Amino acid sequence: MKKLLCLFILVLTLSNGHAQRVYDARIGGKEILTPLPNKEPRINGPKVYGARPGKEFVFRIPCQGERPMKFEIVGLTNQLILDTDKGIITGNVPEGKGEYPMRITASNKYGKVSREFKLVVGDKLALTPPTGWNSWGGHMLMVTDGIMRKTADVFVEKGFADVGFQYISIDDCWMKTSKESFEARKDYKKKQHEGFSFDGLVGEVRNTEGNVIPNSNFPDMKAMTDYIHSFGLKAGIYSSPGPYTCQNFEGSLGYEKRDADQYANWGFDLLKYDLCSGNSCLKCIRNINESYPQSALWQPMATYLSLQDRDILFNLCQYGFEDPWTWAPDLGISTWRTGGDLNHHVENYFKEALRISTELRAYSKPGQWNDPDFMYIHKLRDFRKMVDPSQEIALNTNQRYQYVTLWSVICAPFFFSCDINEIDEFTIRLLANAGVMNINQDALGHVAETIKNKNDEVIMLKRLADGSKALAVFNTSAVDEKVIDFDLKTMGLNSSIQVYDVWRQDDLGTVAERMSIRLSPNGVGLFILKQ
Ligand code: GLA
Repeated sequence: MKKLLCLFILVLTLSNGHAQRVYDARIGGKEILTPLPNKEPRINGPKVYGARPGKEFVFRIPCQGERPMKFEIVGLTNQLILDTDKGIITGNVPEGKGEYPMRITASNKYGKVSREFKLVVGDKLALTPPTGWNSWGGHMLMVTDGIMRKTADVFVEKGFADVGFQYISIDDCWMKTSKESFEARKDYKKKQHEGFSFDGLVGEVRNTEGNVIPNSNFPDMKAMTDYIHSFGLKAGIYSSPGPYTCQNFEGSLGYEKRDADQYANWGFDLLKYDLCSGNSCLKCIRNINESYPQSALWQPMATYLSLQDRDILFNLCQYGFEDPWTWAPDLGISTWRTGGDLNHHVENYFKEALRISTELRAYSKPGQWNDPDFMYIHKLRDFRKMVDPSQEIALNTNQRYQYVTLWSVICAPFFFSCDINEIDEFTIRLLANAGVMNINQDALGHVAETIKNKNDEVIMLKRLADGSKALAVFNTSAVDEKVIDFDLKTMGLNSSIQVYDVWRQDDLGTVAERMSIRLSPNGVGLFILKQ
């Protein structure tokens, strides 16, 4: 009945021209659209997964529904083990390159569901965009072992892991800054004066063997990654190809092999490698050798990471200089930042996404993704006022829905960043919508095409592996509501299609000829269209 009421337009092509019904997709202030998950199992996340031959493996089957739950896998390869209660796969991937199709079944007292899962053993990781949380926006210099563990708990308790969020990543400032580097940062004195404590953060940066020493906020890296892996989740770490990170903490220049080995020994699964002081190194070298390629700066770490026993995803961060999309994939790099830091300019989220959907779209594909930076949603810290509590970003509810919708349809790495201590129900439901995640994780890896960008209307279409399409419609006016109306045929669609509202998880029935959608200022609608 509800479905019938919701059924939006059914434009009858009658000669007297029936009034067209308009689907109301307006979103109110702080309105939660994502329904709570059903009790029966629903498997989410990627259906294809890339791994390198013989590497250590950990993967949690993202599955919603009431626990206890039982998991089974048909086709699980020899050296992989399934924890049938937790749905966590561990072990080693096969040595032989190739495709290993499996069928995962999850059952509980309310039902049973099966889904295909294909392990692809080869050179590429991230056959779908990597997903997770990063510490920078919410914690900056204040990231700790405790924050990382808490994020793992939140992932499991609040349903993030059940829709497919995987990596929990430390950004800058887990290492130490030397006395000299500390002194070189004038703003650190000011921070200290304002009450920020640098205890445990300043001092010897490497031991006598040259191994990097974590600061006192990270007493035992291995124990921390073990904790994260115990949930089947993955852990990320951060460094720079220069001598210092962007916050003047210890970088990896000259220690690439040692650091790569260390990250693997600690059990990390991702490295965000950030240009920072590496830019001055590059300039220096180029004074002597003008044609020294940017890629040469990143090559050593890329090589050493690939030699580890575990897969460590390379997350390149050099703000889009010198077209990383043209050379990074050849180094085995899975994602590269396309521009500057969004946390300082959250309002640029739309511009950055449009660029990926248009001029850069050809460079995103399974194994390699344009990265417009994180979804900075909810409370962030201000680097200039570290002791102050984190503050809400200056985006309203509708803009937050736009932000997440865009990251989903343009196949952006689906990472969010915020103060995890402050996460609230609105933000949890905003980020942990299974349908939105599944569009981002679709195996085709097709970046939504912008098929209209005019008069404050943006329409994007993303092809999905099962032949259906994700349609995202945006009102870019900050002031006016808008009815977005279009002819299905002119969009290259059949004249009759099944429509599903992804945010509200609601079947809207069949639509013929035209669609008409009412949006709030800065509003958005996300639909799946089946022919
Ligand atoms: C750079 C990066 C950010 C963050 C900071 C940390 O600005 O672009 O994402 O990693 O460094 O210092």
